[in-house]
Amino acid sequence: MSERTAEILKRMSTREKIGQLNQVPLVDVEEAKNKARKGEIGSVILAHTAFAGLEETERACMDDINEIQQAAIEGNGIPVIVGRDVIHGYGEVFPIPLAMAASFNMHLVKEGYAMLAEAASADGIHWTFAPMLDVSRDPRWGRIIESPGEDPYLGECIAKAAVEGLQGDNLADEKHIAACAKHYIGYGASEGGRDYYSTEISEYTLRNVYLRAFKAAVDSGVCTVMSSFNEISGQPVTSNQYLLKDVLKKELGFDGFVVSDWESVEQLINQGTADNRKECAYQAFSAGVDMDMTDGCYSENLEELVSEGRISMEQLDESVMRILDIKEKLGLLDNPYTKPRKVDTEKFRNIAYKTALESMVLLKNNNNVLPLSKESKIALFGYMADEKRALLGSWVPDFTLDDVHSIRETFEDTFADVYGGSYFLPEEVYRHGRNADALILVIGETHFVSGEARSLTSIELTAEQKELAKRARKCGKPVIGILVCGRPIALGDTEELFDALICAWQSGTMTAEAVAALLTGKECPSGKTPVSFPRATGQVPIYYNTHPAARVCNLYYDEPYEIYNYEDCQGTPMYPFGFGLSYTEFMYDTPQINTMQLSYDEIKSGKKFLAELYITNIGKYTGSEVAQCYIRDRCASMTRPIRELRGFVKEKLKPGETKRIVFELGFDELGFYNRNGDFDVERGEFEIYIGRNCIDTYCLKIRVY
Ligand code: NOJ
Repeated sequence: MSERTAEILKRMSTREKIGQLNQVPLVDVEEAKNKARKGEIGSVILAHTAFAGLEETERACMDDINEIQQAAIEGNGIPVIVGRDVIHGYGEVFPIPLAMAASFNMHLVKEGYAMLAEAASADGIHWTFAPMLDVSRDPRWGRIIESPGEDPYLGECIAKAAVEGLQGDNLADEKHIAACAKHYIGYGASEGGRDYYSTEISEYTLRNVYLRAFKAAVDSGVCTVMSSFNEISGQPVTSNQYLLKDVLKKELGFDGFVVSDWESVEQLINQGTADNRKECAYQAFSAGVDMDMTDGCYSENLEELVSEGRISMEQLDESVMRILDIKEKLGLLDNPYTKPRKVDTEKFRNIAYKTALESMVLLKNNNNVLPLSKESKIALFGYMADEKRALLGSWVPDFTLDDVHSIRETFEDTFADVYGGSYFLPEEVYRHGRNADALILVIGETHFVSGEARSLTSIELTAEQKELAKRARKCGKPVIGILVCGRPIALGDTEELFDALICAWQSGTMTAEAVAALLTGKECPSGKTPVSFPRATGQVPIYYNTHPAARVCNLYYDEPYEIYNYEDCQGTPMYPFGFGLSYTEFMYDTPQINTMQLSYDEIKSGKKFLAELYITNIGKYTGSEVAQCYIRDRCASMTRPIRELRGFVKEKLKPGETKRIVFELGFDELGFYNRNGDFDVERGEFEIYIGRNCIDTYCLKIRVY
């Protein structure tokens, strides 16, 4: 607490204090101004409804924001904090967050989030509800698009890059905004992939899987955290004191403020732990939710709860202080108003292009059918070829389509001849396909089937798309699939119909340009899957960091006892975690380790194993490779994952170039949260796997004694 905010707090009435904890949606500007003048609101969220992520909504209007601010200043002098869901775009659009994770390029991710902050802050936005850090192992869940994928370590890296990018070194400068790590916690484990559903997560899994990215966000100084809708094992997170106060605020040392999710305080009634709004307010506030998003339960009931003594003034003051502190850090106490500022759209598009390029994953390239010559005659099919909006993905309320080209438009400018129509006419496929050098099918899914409240029971291609691929195959020419999607698609029954496949995701404004650059070899693919691609939906959940089974039948890793496999499907993923091909070839030398063993005390005091390797580009193209380092704790007091990502390095290499890569493995990398919830390294053997994905690796053995 600074002297300045302590002073402010001293002169505030109870009513004004409660006002700070109230966030309202900006539905009516005059009403918001009235409330701001009376000190009844601490924040506005620029959204009309809970479904802002599913539709385009009005852009922020700086004049309105400044007027609301003026009303607040004329009232009790405390500015409001203006929030908006700036998730992966603001005008120009980056790839969906899941795709950004596929870039495995954290410099680029940081640059992207910094650009989002720069663009949003120019319109008067102070706070975004990003990054989403829910580890997601169920691609049926529509919100997997916003997530870092299935891996806790990748989640940690994204958390750090996003928070640093959005908040910068100095939050008070005009180009940075407050981040919000969400949804704390376990939302990605929604049962059956059904949005908002309950979860069943043990303390062990919570700490080792779901908490890690949030810890990284807190360590990076994230200003705010959003509590999640879901319950965990019978307790809604919104009213979970253990998770919000004991773990997040005390143990992790989070000193910003917690905001609820949209109306989730009131939704405790639906969840069945409260039967009226006052009880909702009591439960959520006592649990540690500082700000109530949009349902008004706090503003309506906290005063009474304080006068009844159920909530103490000290508790109230703590929440208010947390909010005032962030307002001070944002520089709002000195500069509440936004001045017009121009955003460098070219720079924005440039980062969007680079990110799209690095996010796309080459899944298959038989006989090196890719890249294609620009002189090629292309037969282009699939309705996604003509889509523009679908390329941007879900959860992007602010976008412009003016700068977006469809894949067909871009290909027409790229290749000598482009035939074909977007509609599926069997005779057309055959007629054009036979005369073409290659058939390109742009398939996958639109933004209507992914995102919030948009889950699926089948993550396969549609029947029409499968039929299209079958007809294309019959033409006797190479068939190339471009997957536009917001989640991994299960390709078990269709993969063999394609000679090459690129997962282009929904990669934002520059999707089409990036696809064209990759297809023609102007650029070399370098994305890696941040989530496993199943063969069939029925394999879900399927993730690489699975725990070993009692019999040696770990299906993901194709272990010998096939008898324990599914009867109707191979148990391995179609594409494992960390997988992605290139046009060039990288040779990995056998990795070396500096020492085979270290004592527990040495590890504890900071000594590390150093695994070193050389990678050489022995192919013809300049390209980037993501070298990955996994560990396996061979025998521990609890079962440990068969592989756990503990480091990765993305390096660009010219043909013939060699680079040295070093992975450091110390206490943080080798430890885990044990049965008692303590993070520790256990003595014994560890396997270190280094390679190009979680399967294709070299193994070294080390020991902690
Ligand atoms: C609900 C979503 O769960 C959350 O991610 C979003 O930030 C809020 N609505 C605000 O729009």
